[in-house]
Amino acid sequence: MSITILGIESSCDDTSAAVITDGLLRSNVIASQKVHEQFGGVVPELASRAHQQNILPVVSEALRQAGVDKSELNAIAFTRGPGLLGSLLVGTSFAKGMAIGLGIPLVDVNHLHGHVLSHFIRETEEQEVPEFPYLCLLISGGNSQLILVKSPFEMEMLGSTIDDAAGEAFDKCAKVMGLPYPGGPQIDRLAAEGDPLAFRFAKPHILGFDYSFSGLKTSFLYTVRDNLKLDPDFIAKRKADLAASLQKTIIDILLDKLGKVLDEYDIKQVAIGGGVSANSGVRAAVEEFCRRRNLRAWIPKRAFTTDNAAMVAIAGYFKYQKGEYCRLDLPPYSRTTIS
Ligand code: KG4
Repeated sequence: MSITILGIESSCDDTSAAVITDGLLRSNVIASQKVHEQFGGVVPELASRAHQQNILPVVSEALRQAGVDKSELNAIAFTRGPGLLGSLLVGTSFAKGMAIGLGIPLVDVNHLHGHVLSHFIRETEEQEVPEFPYLCLLISGGNSQLILVKSPFEMEMLGSTIDDAAGEAFDKCAKVMGLPYPGGPQIDRLAAEGDPLAFRFAKPHILGFDYSFSGLKTSFLYTVRDNLKLDPDFIAKRKADLAASLQKTIIDILLDKLGKVLDEYDIKQVAIGGGVSANSGVRAAVEEFCRRRNLRAWIPKRAFTTDNAAMVAIAGYFKYQKGEYCRLDLPPYSRTTIS
């Protein structure tokens, strides 16, 4: 008998719903919230309100696009955390109400597991998926982690950031350049036209597999500040070179620790996930890195890099098959780790 799961994601500023049948994606609807752009970052209160406005139409549209009636659903999977509590409460309450109304199980998903398992979302029967164990570089606005994925349920964090995440480094440096939020995609676009060797920024010297991006951020800020004293038009004249050099430095930092893990662990497959894995430079560099080391690289489709419910539905599908359901009295959580 086939299994159809509705996934619901509301951890930050994207309201999303998706339908998956036996691992095959049937719909993935995302309503992004533009309201935050003018504030230079996500405003939690506004995010919760926008989720309330969006959630019903988004879920209805996901079911419509999938051609699925709600009576055909086997379970509702939802992001229980980590994320903004007010945002999570909207998706959690909606998922609970729907599961109770339909008399079907509720499955809670750790958002980070969703990113890591997004490579199992299949759009065709033939599409290949990773083999366990694989190493996942999870890079987003809030996380930079190296995760050993042993099964859909067993993940070990080998390294993590000790300060800022890679996405924060992109966003904060973009802000220094006066670019709108979120700065990551803007840096990506500008970097394509710049010289990655034009500027040298500080790289961290941290033992083990942990990351650090705060020194880079400061180094970038000082470079811009010092040059602006000499030429008030410095940013305008050199923005492509600044973006390209920043992006190259972030990639170098990411790949350095990735290489260190692979030197120690016998892993043949490497995946990337999270918002920063949409970055063109990161994608190309990881592909090239894996090609040189004879490893299989799993680069997600861009639609599955940022927050989406398809990854929640697939993670929920694994848990549903194992019979791991969520109690109705469990609240969302704002913080957690991968394991
Ligand atoms: O995973 P995500 O959507 O949200 C969470 O942090 O949970 O990641 C958002 C982050 C932001 O920092 C954004 O600037 C970054 O991903 N990002 C990018 C690109 N697209 C999104 N960074 C660099 N290049 C991109 N193309």
